Order: sequence, then structure tokens, then C-alpha cells
Amino acid sequence: MRELNIGDSTVPAIGLGTWHMGDSASTRAEEIKAIQDGIAAGARVIDTAEMYGNGRSESLVGEAIKGMQRDDLFIIDKVLPSNASASKMEHSLDTSLKLVGTDYFDLYLYHWRGAVPLSETIETLQQLQQKGKIKHWGVSNFDIADMEELMDLPHSNQVAANEDLYNLGSRGIEYSLLPWMRQRHIPLIAYTPVAAGDARGRLTHDPVVNQIADNHSATAWQIILAWAIRDGNTLAIPQSSDPKHTVDNVLAANITLTDNELAQLDVQFPKPTSKQPLDMR
Ligand SMILES: NC(=O)c1ccc[n+]([C@@H]2O[C@H](COP(=O)([O-])OP(=O)(O)OC[C@H]3O[C@@H](n4cnc5c(N)ncnc54)[C@H](OP(=O)(O)O)[C@@H]3O)[C@@H](O)[C@H]2O)c1
Repeated sequence: MRELNIGDSTVPAIGLGTWHMGDSASTRAEEIKAIQDGIAAGARVIDTAEMYGNGRSESLVGEAIKGMQRDDLFIIDKVLPSNASASKMEHSLDTSLKLVGTDYFDLYLYHWRGAVPLSETIETLQQLQQKGKIKHWGVSNFDIADMEELMDLPHSNQVAANEDLYNLGSRGIEYSLLPWMRQRHIPLIAYTPVAAGDARGRLTHDPVVNQIADNHSATAWQIILAWAIRDGNTLAIPQSSDPKHTVDNVLAANITLTDNELAQLDVQFPKPTSKQPLDMR
């Protein structure tokens, strides 16, 4: 299974997204099963946030992982921009920890930039790390200019990851941000890695994607995920409420695409040739 290093942990390159999970009582049991089956299939990373259903996703995660060995998991949570200040962040973090039922997060991300000065947010994250409530901190929805601004601040070398939108149909960050992150050994967490369900089938109905899926006796979804994690420095966090989809997604970390297959995908879904605005969701 393809893995990557985040902070001082080595984790499988496909984890579990949880946005929109926990919102409805009628799908709760299936969603919990999806998370549990995903972990049984080899996933270790769960990505949640205080924003997701106002804590409902965190509490679903807490229920799903109850009784599991905590160090087998790598849990990512995120603080809202409005709570990313010296006066509010610790309270937010404590609430999130309680909902998930743990006393630390492996990675705590600044969800997206807001009005609080970046230096204050980073200083506060650093203090919470020193207290042991988070093992590592990172950022999300940061473009190259945000990362460069971050680099000028104290403790910036502690940034453990940047979580941005990235999939075969949205490759804009390959132009300058990804090479910049590679050079500094900052991993990418690729969110929306299967294009939010690929409603129009642009990726999953593509003939080349499907031919490559046949080559590997895999699904088109798995090929899209195997593509996203191909560099060994990317964690993809697909979300699924369906246990079978979730297991398939996790097992996509076993697929290695050939150079020829990658070149074919480059023809269908070309790399950017100029700077693109950061794609967000
Ligand atoms: N940091 C940020 O700002 C940010 C922003 C957005 C998302 N995220 C994180 O990234 C995660 C993933 O992103 P996302 O939820 O936007 O989009 P996504 O993972 O690209 O797509 C999720 C959708 O794809 C479908 N799907 C997934 N695997 C499938 C499969 N094998 N076969 C068929 N359908 C499949 C799911 O439906 P089924 O349930 O039917 O499988 C779901 O509707 C989120 O849940 C969240 O944790 C972070």
C-alpha cells in the first residue's frame, strides 16, 4: 500500500473524508460502517472539521472509532477562521477533542484564511502543539502566496501539510504550488480527490480512465485516486458514505500506474501551462 510521511508518522496514502457525514439519522449506521470498514481495509487517516455539520461529523467519527486503538489512527481536525485566534482557538480545539472522544489530534489545520493575523494563528497553533493537544499543525486552502507569507513567520518550518483541492480534473496547483511544496518537503493533502462524486462523469466516464481501470482490474474511481497519490508525497481523502465504495477507495493505494498510463492521462487531462486561481470547495 502506498504510504507517505506526515510529521513523524507514516500513513497509507488514502484516508477517509467525512464532510456531510453525520447530518442525517437515517444514514448514520451506514456511515459509521463505512468508516469502520475503511479502517479495517487499511485506512488510518480520518479527516474532519468543526465546520462539518457544526460538530456532527466529529461526533460521528467519535462513535465510529470508539474502542479502537488510538495510535493506530491519524486524526485530522480543522479550526474555522473565525476561531483561529489566541482567545478562541483552544476552546474550539477542546470542543472538537471532546466530540471525537480523544485527547489529541495528529494534525490540526487552519481551515482557510480569515481575518485573524496569520502570525497570531500560527503562534497559537504552536502553543497548542507544545501543550500536547495536537501533534502537528498545518494549513488548508493556502496558495503559493499564502505559503510564502507563512514562511516569513516564526515556527513556519513546523508546518506539517497543506490541504488543497486536487484531482485529475483540477490540476492547477501543479503549475507552481506543488513544486514549491515538494522542494520544502511539505506534503499535500488532496481534498475532493474524486471531484465531489464526478456528477457529470467527466473523469469516471472517460474512455482512457476506463481502459486503465481494465488494465488493473480496478474501477475508474480507484484509478483517479491512484493518480492523485502517484508521487508518494500526497494523501488523498475521498469521502464516501457507502462501505463498499470506501473499501474500494482505500484499496486504490495498492495500484501503481505505469509511466505510459500516466502519459495517457496527461493527454486527456493536461497539466496547467499557466498559474490558475486556487480551486476551492
Ligand atoms: N480543507 C477543505 O477546505 C476541504 C474542502 C472540501 C473537502 N474536504 C475534505 O475532503 C473530503 C473529500 O472531499 P469531498 O467530500 O468534497 O469530495 P470527494 O471525496 O471528491 O467526493 C465525494 C463524493 O464522491 C462519491 N464517491 C466517493 N468514492 C466513490 C466511489 N468509489 N464510487 C462512487 N462514488 C464515490 C461519494 O458518494 P458515495 O457516498 O455514494 O460513495 C461522495 O458523493 C471531505 O469529505 C472533507 O473531509 C476538505
